[in-house]
Amino acid sequence: MLPTLIQSVAEMQAQSSTWRAQGQRIGLVPTMGYLHEGHLSLMRLLRPRCDTLVASIFVNPIQFGPHEDLARYPRDLQRDMELCAQVPCEVVFHPSAEEIYPENFRTHVEVSELTENLCGPFRPGHFRGVTTVVGILFNIVQPHLAAFGQKDAQQALVLERMVRDLRMPIEIVIGPTRREPDGLAMSSRNVYLQPEERKQATALYHALLLAEKMINSGERRAEKVVAAMTELITHEVTTPVIEYISVVDRQRLHPLESLRGQFVIALAVRIGKTRLIDNMFFEV
Ligand code: PAJ
Repeated sequence: MLPTLIQSVAEMQAQSSTWRAQGQRIGLVPTMGYLHEGHLSLMRLLRPRCDTLVASIFVNPIQFGPHEDLARYPRDLQRDMELCAQVPCEVVFHPSAEEIYPENFRTHVEVSELTENLCGPFRPGHFRGVTTVVGILFNIVQPHLAAFGQKDAQQALVLERMVRDLRMPIEIVIGPTRREPDGLAMSSRNVYLQPEERKQATALYHALLLAEKMINSGERRAEKVVAAMTELITHEVTTPVIEYISVVDRQRLHPLESLRGQFVIALAVRIGKTRLIDNMFFEV
């Protein structure tokens, strides 16, 4: 059975309040739609841990920069509803931009430090848009648990920080990155890739595997790992624009010179018109 589609904020909020009054545990998976196995895996992760599962589908205009892909972001609500039914989930919350951002909207949520490296400098205002919309969605859907993907590691860690700092009574669950059979991290944006670009896009994962191999063999100099990853990507991709390849500590996302403790290796590379990101978590 298809999930119930709710498009009005007032209706969603009232429904969630009713569920809460009945003692139901609510799970939320926020998405921008055009669902794939990565999104569905987050829903399946929460499914056994809640009574009512809500997926939100909202292409959030304020997290896109002026030259980014807001207008061409892929959308297919009917297909998304059918995929949600397979999980299954009870409700798809799909508000309009006007519902979320009425004309007199003036409030934003901003997390410092964690947003300053990695994607931060390349996407000014992006994380402020993400934390703001997720804060709004949390207040509307009132979930007990919410799941985010490790694929967007910085986003997940920023949201985890927001929830702690603002004492939101919500458990954040981070789900593993789902990949295509050849290793490319699943993303709604992969549809932008031309056939040749799609083949070369596995370079990001190959670079992470190389980093993992070097670290397992005892390499502890971040510089060496980044140099080897850069070389691999330059070799496998015709004209890559490497935005960053960074090694950062997991707590503060500050650059590391020497690899120890819990850290993240993350990269963003543009192939043609498509911006791809990927990452791996380590502990040594
Ligand atoms: P979107 O890109 O649609 O992703 C929704 C959720 O799915 C995010 O938590 C993301 O990390 C996760 N996800 C995407 N690809 C994944 C993959 N290959 N494996 C596992 N999880 C994956 O991220 C957003 O939307 C938005 O910024 C949002 C949080 C909804 C706020 O607007």
